[in-house]
Amino acid sequence: MRPRGPLMIEHRLIEKMMRILADKIPKIREAQKVEPAFIDPVIDFMRTYTDKIHHGKEEAIYFRECAKKEMTAAEARMLKELLHEHEISRRAVETIAQARKRYPKEENALEVIVEKLEFLVEIYRGHIDKEDHRFFPDSEKYFSEAEQAAMLKEFLEFDKKMVQEKYKTVVEDLQKGPA
Ligand SMILES: [Fe+2]
Ligand SMILES: [Fe+2]
Repeated sequence: MRPRGPLMIEHRLIEKMMRILADKIPKIREAQKVEPAFIDPVIDFMRTYTDKIHHGKEEAIYFRECAKKEMTAAEARMLKELLHEHEISRRAVETIAQARKRYPKEENALEVIVEKLEFLVEIYRGHIDKEDHRFFPDSEKYFSEAEQAAMLKEFLEFDKKMVQEKYKTVVEDLQKGPA
């Protein structure tokens, strides 16, 4: 398998989440409320799976290796763009998490949540398409078979570490008590 394999499999799950969000957003707007049983796992998915696990592997492994290669100016520009999109989506998720803490006490919290969810649906549509159809195929040609195999191995180690970290945090947060 090539390094883009596991990353593209993760894209398919992120897309499923985006479809759920796209379907739910008008319903939240109409009801003017969002259930904690919906928004809490969405925040956890976006923070842990999309950002730490998925963007984590892209940034700390795949993009890191791409940056070592002599890419064309257009490829380097796209890499920068992808990193920027990770950053703004990460910020949007944190804004949602902060608004969630203020919801339902503060009136505007729901609108912030809905707006940022819409933003995420929009940004991932383009982001995933760019990676799947342009950046991954374009950048793959720079890597030897051995380099690709090394990255795949590093991906597995990265995932293992992330699972351990995730549940260590869960226990530590429970120890701390309610926020
Ligand atoms: Fe990405
Ligand atoms: Fe990605």
